[in-house]
Amino acid sequence: MNKHAKIFVAGHRGMVGSALCRRLRERGFENLLTRTRSELDLLDARAVNAFLTAERPDYIFIAAAKVGGIHANNQFRADFIYENLMVEANVIHGAHRAGVQRLMLLGSSCIYPRDCPQPIREEYLLSGPLEPTNEPYAIAKIAGIKLCESYNVQYGRQYICTMPTNLYGPNDNYDLATSHVMPAMIRKAHEARERGDAELVVWGSGTPRREFLYVDDLADACVHLMEAGYDGPLLNVGMGADVSIRELAETVMDVVGFKGRIRFDSSKPDGTPRKLLDVSRLAALGWRARVGLGQGIRMAYRSAPFVAQQLPAQPPALPALLRVLSAGRAAGAAVAATTP
Ligand SMILES: NC(=O)c1ccc[n+]([C@@H]2O[C@H](COP(=O)([O-])OP(=O)(O)OC[C@H]3O[C@@H](n4cnc5c(N)ncnc54)[C@H](OP(=O)(O)O)[C@@H]3O)[C@@H](O)[C@H]2O)c1
Repeated sequence: MNKHAKIFVAGHRGMVGSALCRRLRERGFENLLTRTRSELDLLDARAVNAFLTAERPDYIFIAAAKVGGIHANNQFRADFIYENLMVEANVIHGAHRAGVQRLMLLGSSCIYPRDCPQPIREEYLLSGPLEPTNEPYAIAKIAGIKLCESYNVQYGRQYICTMPTNLYGPNDNYDLATSHVMPAMIRKAHEARERGDAELVVWGSGTPRREFLYVDDLADACVHLMEAGYDGPLLNVGMGADVSIRELAETVMDVVGFKGRIRFDSSKPDGTPRKLLDVSRLAALGWRARVGLGQGIRMAYRSAPFVAQQLPAQPPALPALLRVLSAGRAAGAAVAATTP
């Protein structure tokens, strides 16, 4: 990749898009092309075509999507399938029309069948029924993968697809109505500590196992693949290791400085017992995650909007940070252990 290459990052203000921009700049790529939704609505095919034809970027990362937790996915099923299909179709077809040769589509591990063997290998795609609660979102993401594969086969494009596991980090969504399990847990533990609650209620038994990847690691993998000229099939991106919801809750409580108890509400559903991506294909290409869970949660917590506002201009080292932040005792609202 030429350091002067023009790179369009769609969704640059989101968690993944902003991490991609950070990583690209760190690697010396300064010619980044970005548009906010009000400047360019990716649902508008005509506007997307006009933009891509005028700009003719060398590379595109599609990190724009309608994203949400299990409740949002289930409740707004039409919005999730329609918006994701349209964004993918408009950007991928527009890229092809504008002669863009290289593009990366960000997908999600929910494309895989609900009951597939663990860890999940890329070839399990389309081998069984999907999780019903996020089926419309998953179908849109699968359509995006098939769009890329089809333009590659028919037109010789190099449109690649990466499937990240659960992500967390700066610019995550902490709105409890639409957030994923990690940001929800961080926020609930923080609020429980602030209120001096005695316990933190976590939905389910605490035994399901999930995988979490710090978003800057994901961005590093994506940029690594583009720089390496990877143009092969679908690739999983993950830690290659999982934790139980109990271990996750304990790590979050430790970072946040919440000293109360955890109470598991077993009347609430657990979801699938385990969800872990097989990352051997990516490892064979020379990439592995670097940020451990505790370190990642500390960095995510410090960047969360409700914490960043409370910090002094020069953030103290972590032990001092925890002293500043720690105070009350524990309890409160439930944290769902399920993730889409
Ligand atoms: N978050 C995770 O845990 C996770 C896990 C696996 C995979 N992924 C994948 O990573 C990708 C990015 O996720 P994310 O967590 O970064 O999501 P995010 O924080 O919600 O960011 C999505 C971005 O897309 C933009 N966008 C959506 N619709 C648009 C439209 N019609 N026109 C222009 N911009 C639009 C949003 O703009 P506005 O801010 O204006 O709405 C936002 O900046 C998604 O494909 C997702 O499936 C995420």
